[in-house]
Amino acid sequence: MYNDQPPTPPIDIAPIATQRLHLRAPVRDDAPALVQLANDKGVASQLASMPHPYGPEDAAAFLKDIVPTQSNWAIRRATDDAFMGVIGLFQRTPDAPVELGYWLGRPYWGAGFATEAARSVIAFGFSMSDIDAVIAGYMDGNNASGRVLEKIGFLKTGRNPFKSRTLARQVMQTNMRLDRSRWETMASPEAQ
Ligand SMILES: CC(C)(COP(=O)(O)OP(=O)(O)OC[C@H]1O[C@@H](n2cnc3c(N)ncnc32)[C@H](O)[C@@H]1OP(=O)(O)O)[C@@H](O)C(=O)NCCC(=O)NCCS
Repeated sequence: MYNDQPPTPPIDIAPIATQRLHLRAPVRDDAPALVQLANDKGVASQLASMPHPYGPEDAAAFLKDIVPTQSNWAIRRATDDAFMGVIGLFQRTPDAPVELGYWLGRPYWGAGFATEAARSVIAFGFSMSDIDAVIAGYMDGNNASGRVLEKIGFLKTGRNPFKSRTLARQVMQTNMRLDRSRWETMASPEAQ
């Protein structure tokens, strides 16, 4: 499956609690909710590598093969621990920049959960490692994701064509980057 050594998670994860969310490693018991929420073209079409349709074997492969190679958290609602989606930091190759990716199941869109999760994961990433930047990208038309990244402080760095696995065609992607220095300025008490 891997050319050389399997990739390792860029950061050792730990549970994160925010005002409304619990972020913890995805586990086998999440599989039914994972399948139910991920099997949605509106989710898969915005992501580089999510299979569509998405079945139990995809959830099993995610838990067995992907989770150990990335820094992934399941996004859970604090009130009842409901599994709502996934957020993670990963590297495409060992020397590649650390990248942020995330998705939420459709019932949970529009409540600010992605921004809350992403802000906490970025804070975790910068405080628990010495990475100097995090990158991310979103496809044309995914203005909600662009807005999430903007709210956290990401800045546009460029655009490039991107092959969408689900749509089976090229789409344009906007590339974004958040430098540690900018994040530290934004997170400083004077900036609040
Ligand atoms: C993108 C996604 C994560 C957003 O999650 P969310 O929890 O709804 O996001 P939030 O509520 O935190 O923030 C969304 C922001 O985008 C805005 N927004 C929503 N739809 C929008 C649209 N069509 N155009 C412009 N802005 C939009 C919201 O108003 C909000 O901004 P505001 O707080 O300034 O009002 C979610 O829709 C999703 O999982 N989509 C499918 C997978 C995906 O796209 N993953 C990201 C890949 S880059």
